[in-house]
Amino acid sequence: MSQSLPADSVPKDSVPEDSVPKGSVTGVGKYAVGNNGDYFAVGRKCRHLRADLAGGSIDPDGCLVCPWHGAKYDVVTGRMVRGPQGIFARIPGLGATFKALTRVLPLQRGTVEKRGADLHIE
Ligand code: FES
Repeated sequence: MSQSLPADSVPKDSVPEDSVPKGSVTGVGKYAVGNNGDYFAVGRKCRHLRADLAGGSIDPDGCLVCPWHGAKYDVVTGRMVRGPQGIFARIPGLGATFKALTRVLPLQRGTVEKRGADLHIE
């Protein structure tokens, strides 16, 4: 009988190392896990409208880009470094407000540890 994990837990199973090739992002429990040259794990919910950042991408600066409106995060600090784009970029102060918010409430950061051919995220 299989047992489902709580939505906010990280599975005990390891993540095969090559399942997160450089430049990609995947979801592991409550984390968006990626590799921008180094592995990282950050909270999955965008601070703007809570898009799943596991569906995001990594830009040439190594930042995680939200799949919905293009907000950009520094994965080391968890801070938004560019606010939401598109129509949201036209709202005065919106980007600055969200960037300021993540100074106080940055994305949670997890640790990614290589163990043999696997990655363990905590
Ligand atoms: S939900 Fe992420 S930028 Fe809008």
